Parts: sequence; structure tokens; C-alpha cells
Amino acid sequence: MHRLKTRRWVQLLLVVGLCFGTLATTGAVGREEPVRPPEAPAVQAPAEQGGDQAAAKEAELRRQRAASLLGRYGLTREQRDTMSARAAADAALFQRLERGELSRTELTWLGLPNARADRLDRYDAWMEAHPEDTRENAVFQVNLNQDQAFYSLIWETADPDSLDVLVNKHYTLPASYVPELEALGKGYGSGSLRPEAARAFRAMVDGAKAEGVTLRSVSAYRSYKTQKNTYNRYLKQYKQSTVDTFSARPGHSEHQTGLALDINVASSRAHFENTAAFAWLKAHCAEYGFILRYDQGKEAITGYRFEPWHYRYVGVETAKVIMEQGISYEEYLALQPG
Ligand code: DAL
Ligand code: ZN
Repeated sequence: MHRLKTRRWVQLLLVVGLCFGTLATTGAVGREEPVRPPEAPAVQAPAEQGGDQAAAKEAELRRQRAASLLGRYGLTREQRDTMSARAAADAALFQRLERGELSRTELTWLGLPNARADRLDRYDAWMEAHPEDTRENAVFQVNLNQDQAFYSLIWETADPDSLDVLVNKHYTLPASYVPELEALGKGYGSGSLRPEAARAFRAMVDGAKAEGVTLRSVSAYRSYKTQKNTYNRYLKQYKQSTVDTFSARPGHSEHQTGLALDINVASSRAHFENTAAFAWLKAHCAEYGFILRYDQGKEAITGYRFEPWHYRYVGVETAKVIMEQGISYEEYLALQPG
């Protein structure tokens, strides 16, 4: 669902982040290019390379042609560069530009690196409702789905196996989805996680232990059915609007990804936020690739009350950016290139 990030795109994003102050970023995010299998037959390698080179050349030609076509729309240099890069990467978009099918307003949106090409109408609607707002913030808010009530517009995630997968009140997992799982094992608490997350969690528990802090899983992977039973059980005790502040509807729980878990406790009554374990986690979880997923002050974005015990594996690089900047996962993704 989320395209891989490149350093160049992130540099562009830093500019966007700076436009709305508090989210200005200082770190770079990047992903390794996929490594070609070394056993690829020798005869195929040059052909593949040739194909890659031809594609790169075509993309570069589209970029140059787009830059020249964009000259007539009165866009800023940054907007032109961003739109040219989009046209280089997306032949269909380039054709629309070439045929003169994109309006200046559309091009202005697409000139923002994190604008999503399929949300231009929603950006327009946001600006109509908030005429005093900046375009940068309109894109950010719509990317966060702040123009939609929770559970009103729901997408089924296209790639549930992605380590980047976003599951919240707008994105659901297929009910049948079951990730590859690995038991956390003796000494690490209950349950199982996806192998990458399980390994990282064990390393985190060992790291904490070396500093005198005890961490244990009390709830890790949950099936759709378990989440359904959990949510329905709460519905017998509380009204739905209350349950929705602390329990995910079936299909919408991050626990179903096998990448999230509750550590030591799972209740606000325990006041885990006042413990040494929480202080340690907040300071060190990112070193192991985990983020505090439902932080204080982010309720309107995540849709949940503060859960100091709930951590999500996203990988070290992403986790460091999120924890250092104090942003939610939703905000991090909303700033990514579209
Ligand atoms: N308590 C979290 C939000 C869940 O139910 O997944
Ligand atoms: Zn949880």
C-alpha cells in the first residue's frame, strides 16, 4: 500500500514538513534497493540491465518533457520539479499532462510531494471547508483522513504482509488474514508475532533486562475472531462510543497484523505510564524497531486513548524518525510521498 521511500523524496518532504512547523523533520528515511539474486543467469543479466536502462532513459525523457510543458502553468520551481518527478515515474500521469488534461489546481496539488493523486477532490473540498488553511496542511489532513469520521470510509489494505501496513479506523485487514507467526518463547511472555517482530521483541526484552527492566508480552497476535469476541465482550459492558476509544472493531486491530503487542499490562487503571518500564520503552523502543502507537495528544488522529503499553514494530529506521519527532504512525505516513 505504501510505496518505498527514497532519500530524495524525503528531502522534498522535509521542505513540506518545515511548512507547518511542529512537524519539521531532521532525520532521513530510506529503504535499501532490492538486491538482485546472484544466481541470475549471465545471459539474462545484460538484457534486464538493458531493460532497466531503457526504462530509466524513458523516465528521464518524460521528466524533461514534463518540465518543459509545466512552464506555462505559473507553478513554483518546487512544484514543477515535484510534478516532473511524478510524470517521470508515472507514464499515465505524464500522458494526461501531455494531453492538457490536468488543470492548474490539480497540478498545484500534485506539486506537493505527499499529495495523493486519487485524493485531489478531497483536497479541494478541504480547502472549501477551511479557506484559511494552507495547501500543505490540507494535503496533510486529508492524508490523515481527518475529513472523514472514523469507520465511515474504510479501505481494505492491499498488502497485509507489508511491514509498513497501516491498520486503523480507516484501514482494515481481510477477515481471513493470518500472518506467518512465531511464538515469543519462554521468558518473553505470551503469544506470537511475525518473525521479524518476534526477534526484535526478544532483543528488546534482553536489552531491557540488562538494564534491570522487566518486559513481558501480555497480548500479541490476535485473530479476527479473537478481536471480534474481545470487542463484543466490551460492548456488553459499555456503550459503543466508549468501547471505540480503547478497543478496535474486528478487522481493524493492529494486533491482527502480528506486528503489535501489549507489554506488561493492558489497562489504563495500571498506570503503566508511571513505571520505569514505560520510561525505558519510550527511550529505547525505537532502537529495536518499535513505536509507541497510541500516544497522549494523538487521540484525534489514532482514534484511541493513550495506551502506554501498546507497541508496533515498523523497523528501526522508521521507528527512530517517529519516536524522535513525537509523531504518530498516521502522521509519519501522511508525510510520505504520494
Ligand atoms: N486496544 C487496541 C486499540 C486494539 O484493540 O487493537
Ligand atoms: Zn494493544
